[in-house]
Amino acid sequence: MTASKPRALLALNWKMNKTPSEAGAWAKSLQEEMPPTDVELAILAPAVALPLVAAELYGSGAAFGAQDVSAHASGAYTGEISAAMLADVGATYVIVGHSERREYHGETDEVVAAKARAALTAGLRPIVCVGERLPEREAGRHVTYTLDQLRASLTGVSFTDPTTLVIAYEPVWAIGTGRTATSADAEEMAAAIRGVLAELYPDAAGSVRVLYGGSVKPDNVREIMDGPNVNGALVGGASLQLGSVLGMLAALA
Ligand code: PGA
Repeated sequence: MTASKPRALLALNWKMNKTPSEAGAWAKSLQEEMPPTDVELAILAPAVALPLVAAELYGSGAAFGAQDVSAHASGAYTGEISAAMLADVGATYVIVGHSERREYHGETDEVVAAKARAALTAGLRPIVCVGERLPEREAGRHVTYTLDQLRASLTGVSFTDPTTLVIAYEPVWAIGTGRTATSADAEEMAAAIRGVLAELYPDAAGSVRVLYGGSVKPDNVREIMDGPNVNGALVGGASLQLGSVLGMLAALA
């Protein structure tokens, strides 16, 4: 569907791991060891670690961001962090609608869409996560389920620059389980997702990056990103060790 593939994005979802000191030390090592690469690297760190990550990453060429954001702009929302606050510390990306937030924090598609809109309004790039659970996959309903979730999670979402929107397809059964979808599974869903993007954003669909996530590691990252519609990966477990991140960049070189 696209003449040329958009720049690949390797997004590192640290989840609730690494204290600010650990995150800063990791970012410093990355800054020292970052190889020349065509791949865009983004570290999605715990919010409290972002200022230190920003300082230590400086000059590395890697981007950073958060794992969640408030749907509200400001005000009486105790405990929440706004998109403007993330933008102010230099964040570029923010994950919205990760399956762990949907499952453990009751986030609905409506909330996810509101968070994506809030991120874009503040100049952040939302990484909107969608994906089926095992029952939908086993019933052969994974494509319909995921596309319905995608449409609902993009309600009212608009942008001028298509590189500001990122979609991550993460089948829940493949997250943290060591069970990876095949590259054919990833491409099947990425192509279907791009079809929906083409309906919603006819001029921009080819430039929106669609990532795959779920047990991606140095051994499989190249294969999983092989499909023409897969533009990167969202990596959890294998993003915690610098060696394995450098291994993924080497595999993609
Ligand atoms: P995983 O996590 O790589 O550990 O499967 C991916 C994610 O949850 O984003």
